[in-house]
Amino acid sequence: MDFLKPRYIPMKSRRRIYEGKAKVLFEGPEPGTLVQHFKDDATAFNAKKHDVIDGKGVLNNRISEYVFLQLNSIGVPTHFIKRLNMREQLIREVEIIPLEVVVRNVAAGSLSQRLGLDEGMPLPRSIIEFYYKNDALNDPMVSEEHITAFGWATPQELDDIMALAIRVNDFLTGLFLGVGIRLVDFKMECGRLYEGDMMRIVVADEISPDSCRLWDIKSNDKMDKDRFRRDMGGLIEAYSEVARRLGILTEGDNPKAEGPKLVQ
Ligand code: TMP
Repeated sequence: MDFLKPRYIPMKSRRRIYEGKAKVLFEGPEPGTLVQHFKDDATAFNAKKHDVIDGKGVLNNRISEYVFLQLNSIGVPTHFIKRLNMREQLIREVEIIPLEVVVRNVAAGSLSQRLGLDEGMPLPRSIIEFYYKNDALNDPMVSEEHITAFGWATPQELDDIMALAIRVNDFLTGLFLGVGIRLVDFKMECGRLYEGDMMRIVVADEISPDSCRLWDIKSNDKMDKDRFRRDMGGLIEAYSEVARRLGILTEGDNPKAEGPKLVQ
Protein backbone atom coordinates (compact mmCIF):
# COMPACT_ATOMS: atom_id res chain seq x y z
CA MET A 1 0.00 0.00 0.00
CA ASP A 2 2.94 2.22 -0.73
CA PHE A 3 0.82 4.67 -2.72
CA LEU A 4 -1.11 5.63 0.43
CA LYS A 5 1.97 6.93 2.21
CA PRO A 6 2.44 10.68 2.33
CA ARG A 7 4.95 11.61 -0.30
CA TYR A 8 7.98 13.74 0.31
CA ILE A 9 8.15 16.35 -2.42
CA PRO A 10 11.84 17.04 -3.06
CA MET A 11 12.82 20.66 -2.56
CA LYS A 12 13.99 20.96 -6.18
CA SER A 13 10.64 20.06 -7.74
CA ARG A 14 8.59 22.60 -5.79
CA ARG A 15 8.02 26.03 -7.19
CA ARG A 16 10.40 28.46 -5.57
CA ILE A 17 8.83 31.85 -5.04
CA TYR A 18 11.81 33.56 -3.47
CA GLU A 19 15.22 32.70 -2.07
CA GLY A 20 16.76 34.90 0.60
CA LYS A 21 19.98 34.61 2.56
CA ALA A 22 18.66 32.34 5.31
CA LYS A 23 15.29 31.15 3.98
CA VAL A 24 13.52 29.91 0.87
CA LEU A 25 9.84 30.46 0.11
CA PHE A 26 7.98 27.80 -1.87
CA GLU A 27 4.50 27.73 -3.30
CA GLY A 28 2.12 26.41 -0.61
CA PRO A 29 -0.45 23.60 -0.81
CA GLU A 30 -3.37 26.02 -1.14
CA PRO A 31 -3.79 29.40 -2.81
CA GLY A 32 -2.74 32.19 -0.49
CA THR A 33 -0.25 29.99 1.37
CA LEU A 34 3.52 29.55 1.15
CA VAL A 35 6.05 27.20 2.69
CA GLN A 36 8.89 28.97 4.51
CA HIS A 37 12.06 26.85 4.61
CA PHE A 38 14.87 27.70 7.06
CA LYS A 39 18.39 27.12 5.72
CA ASP A 40 21.56 26.68 7.78
CA ASP A 41 23.22 29.64 6.05
CA ALA A 42 24.43 32.50 8.20
CA THR A 43 25.33 35.83 6.66
CA ALA A 44 26.36 39.20 8.02
CA PHE A 45 27.33 42.58 6.66
CA ASN A 46 25.06 42.14 3.65
CA ALA A 47 26.37 38.65 2.93
CA LYS A 48 30.03 39.73 2.76
CA LYS A 49 30.48 37.19 5.56
CA HIS A 50 28.91 33.79 4.96
CA ASP A 51 28.99 30.37 6.58
CA VAL A 52 26.82 27.30 6.91
CA ILE A 53 26.10 26.36 10.50
CA ASP A 54 24.66 22.85 10.92
CA GLY A 55 21.35 22.91 12.75
CA LYS A 56 20.75 26.69 12.78
CA GLY A 57 17.75 26.45 10.46
CA VAL A 58 16.13 23.77 12.62
CA LEU A 59 16.52 25.89 15.75
CA ASN A 60 15.26 29.10 14.11
CA ASN A 61 12.24 27.26 12.69
CA ARG A 62 11.35 26.03 16.19
CA ILE A 63 12.04 29.29 18.02
CA SER A 64 10.21 31.40 15.45
CA GLU A 65 7.25 28.97 15.51
CA TYR A 66 7.08 29.33 19.29
CA VAL A 67 7.19 33.15 19.19
CA PHE A 68 4.63 33.47 16.37
CA LEU A 69 2.23 31.01 18.04
CA GLN A 70 2.41 33.06 21.23
CA LEU A 71 1.86 36.30 19.29
CA ASN A 72 -1.15 34.79 17.49
CA SER A 73 -2.54 33.68 20.85
CA ILE A 74 -2.44 37.20 22.31
CA GLY A 75 -4.09 38.65 19.23
CA VAL A 76 -1.07 40.04 17.43
CA PRO A 77 -1.75 39.08 13.80
CA THR A 78 1.06 37.19 12.03
CA HIS A 79 1.55 35.28 8.78
CA PHE A 80 2.18 32.03 10.69
CA ILE A 81 -0.20 29.07 10.26
CA LYS A 82 1.68 25.96 11.46
CA ARG A 83 5.02 24.23 11.47
CA LEU A 84 5.25 21.43 8.90
CA ASN A 85 8.54 19.73 9.76
CA MET A 86 12.01 20.38 11.15
CA ARG A 87 12.84 23.11 8.67
CA GLU A 88 9.54 24.31 7.27
CA GLN A 89 6.44 26.17 8.24
CA LEU A 90 3.18 26.96 6.47
CA ILE A 91 2.50 30.69 6.26
CA ARG A 92 0.00 33.02 4.69
CA GLU A 93 1.17 34.77 1.56
CA VAL A 94 1.54 38.46 2.26
CA GLU A 95 2.87 41.46 0.38
CA ILE A 96 6.06 42.25 2.25
CA ILE A 97 6.52 45.91 3.13
CA PRO A 98 10.14 46.70 2.19
CA LEU A 99 11.16 47.84 5.67
CA GLU A 100 13.18 46.33 8.49
CA VAL A 101 11.52 47.57 11.66
CA VAL A 102 14.08 47.62 14.48
CA VAL A 103 13.03 48.12 18.10
CA ARG A 104 15.75 48.87 20.64
CA ASN A 105 15.66 48.77 24.44
CA VAL A 106 19.38 48.82 25.17
CA ALA A 107 22.18 50.46 23.15
CA ALA A 108 24.10 48.00 20.94
CA GLY A 109 25.24 47.35 17.40
CA SER A 110 24.77 50.07 14.81
CA LEU A 111 23.08 52.46 17.27
CA SER A 112 26.11 52.34 19.57
CA GLN A 113 28.43 52.90 16.63
CA ARG A 114 26.41 55.72 15.08
CA LEU A 115 25.85 57.69 18.29
CA GLY A 116 28.91 56.62 20.28
CA LEU A 117 26.89 54.93 23.03
CA ASP A 118 28.37 52.22 25.25
CA GLU A 119 26.88 48.82 24.41
CA GLY A 120 24.61 47.76 27.26
CA MET A 121 23.41 51.25 28.19
CA PRO A 122 19.66 51.08 28.79
CA LEU A 123 17.84 53.54 26.52
CA PRO A 124 15.61 56.23 28.08
CA ARG A 125 12.72 54.59 26.26
CA SER A 126 12.23 52.02 23.51
CA ILE A 127 13.20 53.38 20.12
CA ILE A 128 11.79 52.28 16.75
CA GLU A 129 13.91 52.65 13.63
CA PHE A 130 13.20 51.85 9.98
CA TYR A 131 15.62 50.52 7.38
CA TYR A 132 14.76 50.31 3.68
CA LYS A 133 15.19 46.68 2.55
CA ASN A 134 17.55 47.01 -0.38
CA ASP A 135 20.74 44.93 -0.54
CA ALA A 136 22.25 47.06 -3.31
CA LEU A 137 22.02 50.08 -0.98
CA ASN A 138 22.99 48.15 2.18
CA ASP A 139 19.57 48.57 3.85
CA PRO A 140 19.89 52.31 4.64
CA MET A 141 18.12 53.80 7.65
CA VAL A 142 15.11 55.88 6.58
CA SER A 143 12.61 58.15 8.31
CA GLU A 144 8.81 58.16 8.28
CA GLU A 145 9.06 61.02 5.77
CA HIS A 146 10.95 58.84 3.29
CA ILE A 147 8.59 55.91 3.82
CA THR A 148 5.41 57.87 3.15
CA ALA A 149 6.87 60.13 0.43
CA PHE A 150 8.15 57.18 -1.59
CA GLY A 151 4.99 55.16 -0.91
CA TRP A 152 6.64 52.16 0.79
CA ALA A 153 3.83 52.39 3.36
CA THR A 154 0.98 54.85 3.91
CA PRO A 155 0.81 56.97 7.09
CA GLN A 156 -2.05 54.71 8.30
CA GLU A 157 0.00 51.57 7.63
CA LEU A 158 2.96 53.11 9.42
CA ASP A 159 0.77 53.75 12.46
CA ASP A 160 -0.29 50.08 12.41
CA ILE A 161 3.33 48.93 12.00
CA MET A 162 4.48 51.04 14.98
CA ALA A 163 1.59 49.81 17.15
CA LEU A 164 2.51 46.19 16.24
CA ALA A 165 6.19 46.84 16.92
CA ILE A 166 5.42 48.15 20.42
CA ARG A 167 3.16 45.20 21.22
CA VAL A 168 5.71 42.70 19.95
CA ASN A 169 8.47 44.43 21.94
CA ASP A 170 6.43 44.42 25.16
CA PHE A 171 5.50 40.79 24.70
CA LEU A 172 8.99 39.57 23.75
CA THR A 173 10.63 41.56 26.56
CA GLY A 174 8.45 39.76 29.12
CA LEU A 175 8.75 36.37 27.44
CA PHE A 176 12.55 36.48 27.47
CA LEU A 177 12.84 38.14 30.89
CA GLY A 178 10.87 35.19 32.29
CA VAL A 179 13.67 32.85 31.17
CA GLY A 180 16.57 35.05 32.26
CA ILE A 181 17.26 36.76 28.93
CA ARG A 182 17.42 40.51 28.18
CA LEU A 183 15.87 41.55 24.85
CA VAL A 184 18.37 44.21 23.77
CA ASP A 185 16.83 44.82 20.34
CA PHE A 186 15.17 42.98 17.48
CA LYS A 187 14.14 43.34 13.86
CA MET A 188 10.73 42.50 12.49
CA GLU A 189 9.08 42.68 9.09
CA CYS A 190 5.46 43.32 8.23
CA GLY A 191 3.25 42.34 5.33
CA ARG A 192 -0.12 43.20 3.87
CA LEU A 193 -2.56 40.31 4.25
CA TYR A 194 -5.47 40.52 1.83
CA GLU A 195 -8.71 38.84 2.93
CA GLY A 196 -11.41 39.51 0.37
CA ASP A 197 -11.88 43.27 0.22
CA MET A 198 -10.03 43.74 3.48
CA MET A 199 -6.34 44.27 4.06
CA ARG A 200 -4.49 44.25 7.33
CA ILE A 201 -0.90 44.55 8.41
CA VAL A 202 0.56 41.41 10.01
CA VAL A 203 3.95 40.42 11.43
CA ALA A 204 5.84 38.33 8.85
CA ASP A 205 9.27 36.75 8.20
CA GLU A 206 10.83 35.29 11.38
CA ILE A 207 11.64 36.23 14.94
CA SER A 208 14.64 34.20 16.12
CA PRO A 209 18.14 34.66 17.54
CA ASP A 210 19.13 35.62 13.96
CA SER A 211 16.96 38.73 14.20
CA CYS A 212 17.20 39.63 17.92
CA ARG A 213 19.94 40.58 20.36
CA LEU A 214 19.50 38.35 23.39
CA TRP A 215 21.81 38.66 26.42
CA ASP A 216 21.86 36.41 29.45
CA ILE A 217 20.58 38.53 32.36
CA LYS A 218 23.31 37.45 34.79
CA SER A 219 26.43 37.04 32.66
CA ASN A 220 25.52 39.32 29.70
CA ASP A 221 26.62 36.44 27.44
CA LYS A 222 25.39 36.88 23.88
CA MET A 223 22.84 34.28 22.80
CA ASP A 224 22.22 35.57 19.26
CA LYS A 225 23.74 36.08 15.80
CA ASP A 226 26.35 38.51 17.14
CA ARG A 227 28.27 35.31 18.02
CA PHE A 228 28.64 34.80 14.26
CA ARG A 229 29.00 38.49 13.29
CA ARG A 230 31.79 38.89 15.86
CA ASP A 231 33.49 35.48 15.34
CA MET A 232 32.79 34.37 18.90
CA GLY A 233 31.81 30.76 18.09
CA GLY A 234 29.28 28.73 20.09
CA LEU A 235 26.28 29.84 18.03
CA ILE A 236 24.44 26.51 18.03
CA GLU A 237 25.03 26.10 21.75
CA ALA A 238 23.62 29.59 22.38
CA TYR A 239 20.53 29.13 20.15
CA SER A 240 19.94 25.71 21.76
CA GLU A 241 20.08 27.32 25.19
CA VAL A 242 17.46 29.90 24.12
CA ALA A 243 15.24 27.05 22.87
CA ARG A 244 15.85 25.01 26.01
CA ARG A 245 14.92 27.91 28.30
CA LEU A 246 11.73 28.53 26.32
CA GLY A 247 10.85 24.87 26.91
CA ILE A 248 11.16 23.95 23.22
CA LEU A 249 14.17 21.62 23.55
CA THR A 250 14.41 18.84 26.08
CA GLU A 251 17.66 18.32 27.95
CA GLY A 252 20.26 16.53 25.84
CA ASP A 253 18.60 17.12 22.46
CA ASN A 254 21.06 17.63 19.66
CA PRO A 255 19.73 19.72 16.77
CA LYS A 256 22.67 18.70 14.58
CA ALA A 257 21.85 15.02 14.74
CA GLU A 258 18.09 14.72 14.61
CA GLY A 259 16.53 18.07 15.38
CA PRO A 260 14.87 19.28 18.56
CA LYS A 261 12.00 17.34 20.08
CA LEU A 262 8.93 19.13 21.30
CA VAL A 263 8.36 18.92 25.03
CA GLN A 264 5.00 17.17 25.31
P1 TMP B 1 21.90 46.71 14.17
O1 TMP B 1 22.33 47.18 15.52
O2 TMP B 1 23.01 46.03 13.40
O3 TMP B 1 21.24 47.81 13.38
O4 TMP B 1 20.79 45.57 14.38
C1 TMP B 1 19.61 45.83 15.10
C2 TMP B 1 18.81 44.54 15.25
O5 TMP B 1 18.34 44.10 14.00
C3 TMP B 1 19.61 43.37 15.82
O6 TMP B 1 18.75 42.66 16.71
C4 TMP B 1 19.92 42.51 14.65
C5 TMP B 1 18.80 42.79 13.70
N1 TMP B 1 19.21 42.78 12.30
C6 TMP B 1 18.63 41.88 11.42
O7 TMP B 1 17.78 41.06 11.81
N2 TMP B 1 19.01 41.92 10.11
C7 TMP B 1 19.93 42.79 9.63
O8 TMP B 1 20.23 42.79 8.43
C8 TMP B 1 20.52 43.73 10.56
C9 TMP B 1 21.55 44.72 10.08
C10 TMP B 1 20.12 43.68 11.87
